[in-house]
Formats: sequence, structure tokens, C-alpha cells
Amino acid sequence: MSHDVVLIPGDGIGPEVSEATRRILAAAGADIHWITRRAGLAALDAGSDVVLPDETVDAVKKVGVALKGPCTTPIGGGFSSVNVALRKRLELYGAVRPVRSMRGITTRFKDVDLVVIRENTEGLYAGIENLITEGVVTSLKVVTEEACLRIARFAFDYARRRNRRKVTAFHKANIMKLGDGLFLECARKVHESEFEDIDYDEHIIDAAFMRLVQDPSRYDVLLCENLYGDIVSDLCSGLVGGLGLTPGANFGANMAVFEAVHGSAPDIAGQDVANPMALLASAVLMLRHLSEVREAPELMDVAESIRTAYNDALEAGERTRDLGGTLSTTEFTDAVIRRLK
Ligand code: NAI
Repeated sequence: MSHDVVLIPGDGIGPEVSEATRRILAAAGADIHWITRRAGLAALDAGSDVVLPDETVDAVKKVGVALKGPCTTPIGGGFSSVNVALRKRLELYGAVRPVRSMRGITTRFKDVDLVVIRENTEGLYAGIENLITEGVVTSLKVVTEEACLRIARFAFDYARRRNRRKVTAFHKANIMKLGDGLFLECARKVHESEFEDIDYDEHIIDAAFMRLVQDPSRYDVLLCENLYGDIVSDLCSGLVGGLGLTPGANFGANMAVFEAVHGSAPDIAGQDVANPMALLASAVLMLRHLSEVREAPELMDVAESIRTAYNDALEAGERTRDLGGTLSTTEFTDAVIRRLK
């Protein structure tokens, strides 16, 4: 049976890594019917006057699952982030970013196994900024009890379902006593009332970052508000080999959008050198999700065969430039396809 999935290729390296991923899924026998929709610069280039066309949002609402490439956000002025807008409009409140050491990729630490859970809808990402007077700007950090309870429950529930031992909340409640204070209060409440079987602790974010780079094995599931989750995701990517490797998923009540942690990488776009691994690993998460929500056990097998193929390729030294290899995007894609069993 064919499964509908919305594909948003994005811009920059997005179309290249999306095409690589689509080819590998097809070669592995994933029976996916891709419904391609545009967002960001790609939407503007195609003549849309908005960066997030309704037809893109509506398609994800209807189908329930999307694979998304990165979308550029101009720095300073220009349009606001289409990535943030998509997460807000679809109420994709929980981001999951698993960060694991990979066979064949040598880094300082061998056994990194962390999951970053990021609140996706508020905090400083609410985008409420005011020019009070010339030279004075305020950026509002929005923290609501509802969103804090929801993300805390999401993180503990994830930990329980995946047999993880501990959730650690990252915060700066020593300074933001009300905002981060409420975030912690909610996490404690959810822990005490519903998840006492999972260990829980709280670390001030600056010291936590130092501990993370000294010894990531101290951590398991990291519960973060929006901005901290964004920053810690890239830091954790660095622990296992870089942004070219780290997948992600954004979940709402009835929807999920899978996307890599990395951005559109304009510095290497269009050169056939981007690493498609992060989007491919996001697609593997997507296949597992589809297999659960659409009761399609065959997709679990496809996911496993893709995972084995890319692990074998990386272990054999078949890598793109960001990982010290020499393969182009296309050559790495071909290498993974050759290894599919
Ligand atoms: P970036 O993640 O695009 O790139 C950072 C560095 O990592 C660059 O040197 C890039 O070449 C490298 N890199 C990233 N992905 C790679 C891959 N797959 N293979 C090889 N190298 C890779 O972050 P940057 O430069 O801060 O942002 C560029 C644009 O992407 C911005 O407009 C930003 O707003 C947007 N962005 C979009 C995201 C999304 O769509 N979810 C997430 C993060 C950034």
C-alpha cells in the first residue's frame, strides 16, 4: 500500500539532500507517494507572494506527515522564519533530536547517546520585538504554563516509551526567575504527578554546556525551551561529527514534520557536496513513525535496511567532505543504494 507524505524540499542544499533521500527510500522499497509543496525562497521563486503558502500548510494538515528540507531565513531584516511559522501554524510543539555516535565516525567521545527535546512554539521564538525608541529594543520571551506542561509531559512520555533513564531540564532560572522558573515548576509538577519512574534533574544551562562537552554520558534526555534547544542541538551535533549527521522530528497532536537540524548551508548549495545523512536519518525516523501510526510494519523493515546500509557505508569510509571523505552527494547516495540488501 502506498503512503502519502508531503515533501517540502526547501532551498539551499535542501533540494539536493531531498532528492538523495527520495532516491534511497525508493531504492529501499519504501512505497511512498510524495506530495511536493513549496516553502520559503522556493515558494517566492515559484511566484508565491507569501513564504508559507496555505496550500503547503493545508497539505501537511491533510496528510499528517511531512519530510522537510531546510529553508533560509534572512539575517536581520527580511521575512521572518518560515520554519518557525510552520511549527507554529501546525502546532508542532515538540522537537525530538536524537544525537548518537555513529560507527565509522571518529570523534572525541565514542558512546554519545542523547536526545534533545525542544519546545517549539514560544520563548524568544515568539518573535515579539519592539523598537521602544531609537537605540532601544525589547525582545519578549513568552512562557505559558500550558506550553511548559505540554512539553514536559512530551519529554517524560518520550523517555518512558523509549526506555530512557533520565530527563534533565536546562534553564537559566537564576536570572529569568519568572519565565524559566515557570518552565521548571511545570517540569517538576509533571515529574512528580505522572513520571516518578524516570529520574529528573535540573542544570543551569551555562554549566550544563561545559559538562556536555566534557562528558556527554552524564546526560540522557535534555528538556529545553525553544532557544536553548536550538543551540544545544547544534552543540550536540558537534559531539558526534557535525550538522551533516543529526536528524530531527517535530511533533504535534496529530501531525509530524521530519527535518534535519542543519540549515540551508548557502556556502555549499548547488555544488553536489552536501551530506544527505541528516535528512536521510530524519526520513528513517519518519518511516518508523509511519509504520506505527499507519500500522505498516513493512516500513519498519525498510527503515532498518536503510540504517544498516548507511552505517555500513560510513564504516567503510564512504563519506562526504564534511566528514573528511571525498564523495559528492550523488556518490554517497549511490554508495548507500549499493549497500541496500
Ligand atoms: P547551516 O546549518 O545551514 O550551516 C552551518 C555550517 O554547517 C555551514 O558551514 C554548512 O556548510 C555546514 N552544513 C550544514 N549542513 C550540512 C550538510 N548537510 N552537509 C555538509 N555541511 C553542512 O546553518 P547557518 O549557516 O547558520 O544557516 C543557513 C541558513 O539556514 C539560515 O538562513 C538559517 O536561518 C537557515 N536554517 C534553517 C533551518 C531549518 O530549515 N530548519 C535550521 C537552521 C538554519
